Amino acid sequence: MKTVIVGIGGITNGGKSTLATRLHQQIPNSCLIAQDVYFKEDCEVPVDSKGFKQYDVVSALHMDRMTDHVELWKKNPESFMKQKSLRVFEESLLGKDVFVLIVEGFLIYNYRPLNSLYNKKYFLEIPYEICKTRRSTRMYNPPDPPGYFDGHVWPMYLKNRKEMEEMLSDIVFVDGLQEKDQLLDSVYKDIVEIIKGLNK
Ligand SMILES: Nc1ncnc2c1ncn2[C@@H]1O[C@H](COP(=O)(O)OP(=O)(O)OP(=O)(O)O)[C@@H](O)[C@H]1O
Ligand SMILES: [Mg+2]
Repeated sequence: MKTVIVGIGGITNGGKSTLATRLHQQIPNSCLIAQDVYFKEDCEVPVDSKGFKQYDVVSALHMDRMTDHVELWKKNPESFMKQKSLRVFEESLLGKDVFVLIVEGFLIYNYRPLNSLYNKKYFLEIPYEICKTRRSTRMYNPPDPPGYFDGHVWPMYLKNRKEMEEMLSDIVFVDGLQEKDQLLDSVYKDIVEIIKGLNK
């Protein structure tokens, strides 16, 4: 059996969920674990002096639970897939007994216990203006209050990114302004090469 874990990290609205979902759809015997599912209850997330909820910090997430799920997959991908009612292919396009896990989220590289598990770490980035515009068209739960992007989201992005870059040197930065199909194609091809490399 061969297992590959790919991280799709990046800035908010960088296109992480779009790319990760499309990869999952295209790769047989793949699973997707999305970090957003692990946010703590709103009442557990503290507020700063300006009244902004501190969502963009790793402590706002149940990272222990997320790591448990990644480890559970690694131990037995087939049973993990069956639990999720995902179809397990005998022989996939990528070979027999090849399982791929896609881990997606905005703070996946700021939690040390997960970092040693990835075969490859992608990080989608887009410029400030595009990010702010894309974010303004989205509806979050809870919704972003006025001033939240400049008062919390952007400063925390810069802080978290700095921390990540100080901790890791093997991040592959990806231009999130590329077409969705182009992004999918290049990352998919890269994953195929990683799998081929496992045979050697
Ligand atoms: N390559 C792309 N080109 C243009 N727009 C894109 C691209 N990828 C995603 N988008 C758009 O940007 C928005 C955010 O996409 P997506 O939800 O995939 O980002 P995200 O990084 O997962 O965001 P979040 O911070 O909410 O988790 C969506 O409206 C999506 O359609
Ligand atoms: Mg997302």
